[in-house]
Amino acid sequence: MSTQSQKKKVTVTTLQQMKRDGERFAMMTAYDYCQSVTANKAGVDVMLVGDSLGMVIQGHDSSLPVTVEDIAYHVRCVRRGNTHAMIMADMPFMSYFNEVTTLENAASLMRDGAHMVKLEGAGWLGKSTQLLARHGIPVCAHMGLTPQSVNHLGGYRVQGRDPGQAEKIIAEAKQLETAGASVILLECVPTSLGKAVSEALEIPVIGIGAGPHTDAQVLVWHDLLGLYPGKPAKFVKNFLEGNPNGIEGAVRDYVTAVKDGSFPAPEHCYE
Ligand code: KIV
Repeated sequence: MSTQSQKKKVTVTTLQQMKRDGERFAMMTAYDYCQSVTANKAGVDVMLVGDSLGMVIQGHDSSLPVTVEDIAYHVRCVRRGNTHAMIMADMPFMSYFNEVTTLENAASLMRDGAHMVKLEGAGWLGKSTQLLARHGIPVCAHMGLTPQSVNHLGGYRVQGRDPGQAEKIIAEAKQLETAGASVILLECVPTSLGKAVSEALEIPVIGIGAGPHTDAQVLVWHDLLGLYPGKPAKFVKNFLEGNPNGIEGAVRDYVTAVKDGSFPAPEHCYE
């Protein structure tokens, strides 16, 4: 009999091998025990305890109020439901402003059950990435639209549309790979840039609003199920609408669509 717990655990090596084999992987956010159990059953490879919880769980209008303890609490909830997926934890706003805070906060999230931490930024993340990687903590570098910088960026806007900015993102992604990042997450960039970054790197690139050519896709749980009020972003698809198999069926359909390349479709992408 095959049970969920007998499935092989997803590790950094698994994700990097999947990229080499040309096999896409599916990531989604999860914040609690039941979401974690459902995501595991549906075949999600990576669960992100994202600071999007500030909006979708706590009702703030940005992710800025989220604390390390908030993320840690949800990592512990997700960990209890997890059998084999990788758990990635967001380092929230201002939790990596110097070496000591970076190491202490990342270490506490790893002790709570994360297998990788995610930091938002660009080339300037090189030092923190190197520091964490040297201490055995895998890093996902979140580039492109970085929601923790919404005030600096002047809103949630597509990044990398002008050729100079696109070249800079490609060059900085390469620097972060050299610094020891295990994966890159690219948010809200034109399809051509998502493709270029994925082709330029050996490590996997996870896209959200970055077109169909990245090595993986991520969606927020509440977006994937159409639960968040208001107008969804262009890159969102509601997999629950009209789905006869309920929530688990919707998550399963998302995983299948990521793996067979049918999601994202042209209507979810930026030019
Ligand atoms: O916090 C989050 O959920 C994220 C995703 C939007 C990638 O960072």
